[in-house]
This record gives sequence, C-alpha cells and structure tokens, in this order.
Amino acid sequence: MQDKKDLSNKVAILNIPGQEPIELPILKGTLGPDVIDIRALGKKGYFTYDPGFVSTASCSSKITFIDGSKGTLLYRGYPIDQLATKTNYLEVCYLLLKGELPNKEQYADFENKVVHHTLIHEQITSLFKAFRRDSHPMAVLCGIAGALSAFYHEGLDIYDPESRERTAIRLIAKIPTLAAMSYKYSIGHPFVYPRNDLSYAGNFLYMMFSTPCEKYEVNPVIERALDRIFTVHADHEQNASTSSVRLAGSSGANPYACIAAGIASLWGPAHGGANEACLRMLEEIGSVDRIPEFIERAKDKNDPFRLSGFGHRVYKSYDPRATVMRETCHEVLNELHIENHPLLDIATELERIALSDDYFISRNLYPNVDFYSGITLSAIGIPTNMFTVIFALARTIGWISHWNEMQEMEDSRIGRPRQIYKGKEIRQVKSMSKR
Ligand code: CMC
Repeated sequence: MQDKKDLSNKVAILNIPGQEPIELPILKGTLGPDVIDIRALGKKGYFTYDPGFVSTASCSSKITFIDGSKGTLLYRGYPIDQLATKTNYLEVCYLLLKGELPNKEQYADFENKVVHHTLIHEQITSLFKAFRRDSHPMAVLCGIAGALSAFYHEGLDIYDPESRERTAIRLIAKIPTLAAMSYKYSIGHPFVYPRNDLSYAGNFLYMMFSTPCEKYEVNPVIERALDRIFTVHADHEQNASTSSVRLAGSSGANPYACIAAGIASLWGPAHGGANEACLRMLEEIGSVDRIPEFIERAKDKNDPFRLSGFGHRVYKSYDPRATVMRETCHEVLNELHIENHPLLDIATELERIALSDDYFISRNLYPNVDFYSGITLSAIGIPTNMFTVIFALARTIGWISHWNEMQEMEDSRIGRPRQIYKGKEIRQVKSMSKR
C-alpha cells in the first residue's frame, strides 16, 4: 500500500497487481494517528488480516484516548492523574457516561440515583448458594452478573436513552454489592447490605469487611486509595473486555448479559487477571536475591513465564496509571504503618532491574497498573482472588459507557470479523462404513 505524501486529499492508494488502484479515504480523529478507512475493500472481494486487532479500529469513540508512546490516558479529554487527584470515582462515572464532569446539583442527583439502586433483588441471594464455597469469585460474579439479565429484561428498551441510563446506574450500583457478596459467600460470612450514607468506596469497604457483630469504621485514607483504584481502572478504550461487551452488544443482546461477557474476558491473566497473577508472582519470587533467576526465566523464549505487571499492548512507555498507583500504594503502606513490606521490596527491586535491563528496554516493557494495584489491595486486606473482581467493579462504568455510545452511533453494525480459511476444500460425506 502506498500512502499519498500529501494528506490534504485524504486518500491512500492500494495497488493490487492486475487491478485498478483502490482509493481508501484517510480519516482523522481529534487526537491520534490518521486511520485508513478500508470498508470499501469487502465490496472489492478483499479482507484484511490482523489477528489481535493490532492495526484495526473497530469503531469510533469519544470516551477515552490513549497515546501509548507518550504514556497519556485521557477520559473525555481529562488526564488520568488530574482525575485521580481532583475528582472522585462517581464524578468519573458521570463523566464517562455523559461526557462532562457534573456540577454540584448534577452530582447530587446522580449519587442519589446510584445509592438508591445498590440493593439487589432478594431472590439473587439464593443464586449464590448454587456455587461451591471455594469457587473463584470471578466465576461467581460472571454468573450472577449474567443472571441480572433475567431480572431486567422485560421493559428494557436499549433504543431509549432513559432506559439505557437506568441500566448503567443499576450496574454501577449493584456490581459492588454482588462483588462483596461473592467474597462474603466464599468465607462463609453473612451478606452485608449496602449503607447509603457512605461514599461509593466506603460502602464497598463496609460490605466487604464489616460483620453484624461489631462496629466498622471506614478509614478515610483507605477509602480514598480504593476510590483512586476504581478511577484508574474505570476505562481503557477498546481493550479485550470492552471489545467483548461491544461485540456482544452489537447484536442487540441484553446489556447485563453483555457485561457478563466483559467480566469473562477480563478474567484472563493477560488482561485484568494480571493483578492477581502479579501478586502470586511476587510471592513466588519470595526474596530479593531470587529476582535475577525470574528475570532470566522471563527472557527465556523456551519458558512460558512472563513478568506479570510488565508490558502493555498499547503503552510503549510508562503506564500513567502505574504512576498514580505507585503513589497511592505508598500512602496506604504509610497509613497502615507497614514500613517493611517484603512484597513491595521485591516489587521495587524488580522494577529497578527490569528498567535497566536491555531485554525490557528494547521491548518497551514498563510496569503497568497491575504492578502496584495488587500490593495496595493486599495491604488493604483484599484477598488475592478478589483483585480481578475489584477491577471488574471499576471497569463496569467503562463497559456500559461504551455499550451506551455504541447504541447511539449511526454506523453501528453487528460485529462480524472475517477470516482466512485454511481448512479442507469441498468434499463429499461418505457413509460411516466407508470412512
Ligand atoms: N515479560 C517478559 N517478556 C515480555 C512481557 C513480559 N511481561 N511482555 C511482553 N514480553 C515480550 C514478548 O515475549 C515479546 O518478545 P519478542 O519480541 O522477543 O518475541 C515482546 O515483549 C512483545 O510482546 P507481545 O506479546 O508481542 O506484546 P503484546 O502487546 O501482544 O502483549 C501483554 C501485551 C500485556 C499481553 C504482555 O506484555 C503480557 O503478557 N504482560 C504480562 C501480563 C500483564 O501484566 N497484563 C496486564 C496488562 S495491563 C492491565 C490491562 O489493561 O488489562
């Protein structure tokens, strides 16, 4: 393909031997690289091949922008570090869903709506009992989030903006309740009902850690740290889980079922499961003197081991979320008077070695958000198998904002990738006795 040097006429020319050149329009976003519009190719009998969608935009979106080379992450134009320090998570939810930060009245109204949807249908409590006690909480959350579709299907109109907003508010409100219930179920404690006088993060801590036997005080430093964890995980444009939600939703499916698809996709260790994998890796390393052994394993092409919490498909420079999380991690450890945290010592040394090692430098492998979020969550007292659940809770707003945006887009179509077929050519079925 030959790009025209002068983009003013905004076309790229594709030359295929023996064919007329094909002109492909070049589209411009507000920020980011120019994009070649290949939609005309299908009509000419060609597809493009791009496993992992490394060079493919599946949609246009106004929600989140990432510049991986500069380490920039913007939600609706606002840098993530400013949002993490100057707003709270519910303001960020409003921003992602509606496009602007709320004023005082808009915030009060939004918060009021969210807190009045935190209860779940009482029948759902019996669904939990169908799960083994030792089920992974992501399995439970995925199943029960999907089951919400059975409670909210009739009367749901995905083409009505008000109905969509109600769905978004229900999800933001109910997923923390379900997440905390997954944990309580796994340890055999009674479910704790939400308290609407607490903040979003404070209420989650309360549902996780209080019991009917004693008074629970929310620690404001931990509450703020958790709120920041929610904010930095709230959205990340077209990652695997968001694309899963969009793809599922592109068929007009029930949005609660679409969110379950997002949760399933997030669970994998290459995506949201990396924070759990990272903490288990730090535990496995065990002491600073064993780090070189693990660095060598990460570099060895014959060993499937990878340094969890390092590398990113899009960031080829420092992950800006990791910068926020590193600071938050230290605030939490100070507040809890954890001076010598063995896992933090290993993490700090691992980061230092990896950042000075040619293997990692030449491949632009920097610590990502999961590198520090795991240690922070662990210090707060969140069990390791709940880390990805917290990620799912925080990302629910991103998923539902993208789902909502997709319904509004005029050029939205059912997602239907093509393939290169490499199987058998046409052949005839033989009766069983002749096979
Ligand atoms: N440790 C060691 N080597 C690595 C790592 C790592 N963590 N990540 C990538 N590489 C190597 C990889 O082997 C390849 O080397 P070579 O060019 O010699 O074959 C090169 O770096 C490029 O890697 P890639 O697999 O082509 O990169 P990708 O964009 O397909 O994968 C990734 C991105 C995040 C899946 C990968 O970096 C990874 O597996 N990291 C560990 C898991 C992790 O921390 N995931 C969380 C991502 S942040 C949270 C989220 O947004 O979901």
